[in-house]
This record gives sequence, C-alpha cells and structure tokens, in this order.
Amino acid sequence: MTSITIRRPDDWHVHLRDDEMLAQVLPYTARQFARAIIMPNLKPPVVNAAMAQAYRDRILAALPEGMDFTPLMTAYLTDTTDPAELQAGFESGVLTAVKLYPANATTNSAAGVSSVDKIRGCLEVMQRIGMPLLIHGEVVDPSIDIFDREAVFLERTLGPMLADYPELKVVLEHITTSDSVDFIMDRPSHIAATITAHHLQINRNHMLVGGIRPHYYCLPIVKRATHQQALRKAATSGDQRFFLGTDTAPHPIGAKHSACGCAGVFTAPCALESYVQVFDEENALEHFEAFASLNGPAFYGMPANEERVTLEKRSWKMSGDIEGAEVIRPYRMGESLPWAMV
Ligand code: NCD
Ligand code: ZN
Repeated sequence: MTSITIRRPDDWHVHLRDDEMLAQVLPYTARQFARAIIMPNLKPPVVNAAMAQAYRDRILAALPEGMDFTPLMTAYLTDTTDPAELQAGFESGVLTAVKLYPANATTNSAAGVSSVDKIRGCLEVMQRIGMPLLIHGEVVDPSIDIFDREAVFLERTLGPMLADYPELKVVLEHITTSDSVDFIMDRPSHIAATITAHHLQINRNHMLVGGIRPHYYCLPIVKRATHQQALRKAATSGDQRFFLGTDTAPHPIGAKHSACGCAGVFTAPCALESYVQVFDEENALEHFEAFASLNGPAFYGMPANEERVTLEKRSWKMSGDIEGAEVIRPYRMGESLPWAMV
C-alpha cells in the first residue's frame, strides 16, 4: 500500500503548555488532530472547571486562523478535589475527564494524589456519572526501580482500585510494558490504554547505547525491547481498548540538555507519520484507522470525525529545532521519515 485515507484522528493525551510555548506548539497538534485531551499539569495545575475553561479559552485564542481543533479539558486530581465540582464540570461539558498523577511521579505533579484513600469520594462520583479517570500509572516509592514502577503500580494501586470501583471508566495512559498490555487484555472495554509513537519506536537501547539521548527520555521511561514488541503488537491488533495518545511533551532545549534534564518528548511535529510507519512495518495498516480515529471516540462516547486525512509513502526529512520564544527539539529531528501527510 502506498497511501492510506482514514477518518481524521484525535490525540487522547497532549501537553500544550501555556503562554508563548502554547502558541509555538499548538499548530503542530492542530495540523494532525481534530480533538485532543489536554493535560492539566501547568504551573499552577488546572485543578477545577473554572481553570479548565480559562485554559481552553487561551488555547482557542492561540489557535491560528483557519485551523480546526477542539481541546477536550481535564482537571488535575488532588487530595482535596471536591467531587461535586468535578460532577458540575463534567455535566456542563467543560471537563471531559480527570487526570490522576501520583504525587511527584513526573513533571509538575507535586500537587498530585498521595493515596487512593484521599480520592474515594471523587472516584465514587466519577464511577456513577461515567466520567473517565486518566492515570499516570507509576508508583513513586523510592525503593522501586524506575524500570519497574509501572508494573508495580498495576499490582499495588490499579488492581485494587478497579476492584473497589468496577464500573469506573479508566484510561491507563502511555503504557510502556507487556505487563500493562496483559492487564488491559484481561479487563472489560471500559478499561483502556493509550500508547505513544515513541514507545512503539524506541526502547532503552535507543536511549542509552552509544551515548545518552536526552530527547528520548520521558516518563514512563522507555523499557527493554521485549516490552516495545508487546506494545507494537497491542497497538496494531485493532483491539478497541488501545488507542492513540502521543504524550507530546515539549520542553525548552536548555531544560533537556542539562545535568538534570526534564522528561518529555516533543512528538507533535511527526506523530501521525511515526504511528503509520509502525503499522506499515507490522503489516497492519488495516487497523490503523481503528487505533488512530475510532477506538478513542468509542471509549469517550463521542462520534468519530467525519473529515478524512491521507498519508502516503513518500520520504521527507524532519526539520531542525523549532525556534521561537523557546528552542524546542522535535522527535526524530533530521531523520528521514518514510510516510508523509498529504
Ligand atoms: C510530561 C511533561 O513533560 O509534562 N513528561 C513526560 O515525560 N511524559 C509529563 C507526563 O506525562 O508524565
Ligand atoms: Zn503526559
């Protein structure tokens, strides 16, 4: 196959940041995706519907003329989130979902949740009204090795949580292990997972062999190749519980090229082109539309997009750093990519 036309996809996990960086990165996401779930880990975090509404307005104000893009907003769960406020935000249409960061698991997560016991009131209400919980699934226990933090989270936190709230709609975000694939496969369709393009394309050897590559450093950290293979198999299987979420997470280049560099990969400039390459390599292009454009809307109870996009097998080169208020290095900078958007 040399070209593929699918319904316009959505990105179910995006960091758009704020202010000047928002204006700088937003067009890359809006070029590819009709809708996106917007992460709330700003400084300070977006913790309620009023803040989410204001952030949505800033995103729409930053959207270039003529681009068609709908931000779907989330609230950042804290130990003191008011369940009634979440419910009101969901019912008014401002909030699409709630984001759970275990406190200190990743960038700007210090105000996250310290224990499931603190959020039981929220989980009960969310389960009752069908409001999805989006989870950064890693334990923060310092005694747990960073490469094991996702698997331990399943066992210690997520398994027990789902036993207590069996009807809760959950997205386990940016999964990185075969453990998470197996966990999802054993569960009903209201428990789903997103998978990033970079976790499909790279493993820890790409990050660490022959020099340390800070632009491949993200959280959850890329794992060994066997996990990467399990993710590729799950994503390309057509199974409705797996769908697209880039976790595009731009940082100024100085924050990446540092003795203590930030986690996050800026994939937005070539996300769809990277995903379709994986589906092509796995001989699974027939399942690309399900992963990119159908499974996510089905999970969220939204219609799939009516517009279509076409990708074709034509080599192009990913450009250099994006210059503007900040210098931001795109994923796969300088590489030739075999698939292009038409
Ligand atoms: C994200 C960020 O920079 O905000 N970083 C990342 O490595 N993915 C936070 C997150 O999603 O963990
Ligand atoms: Zn993220």
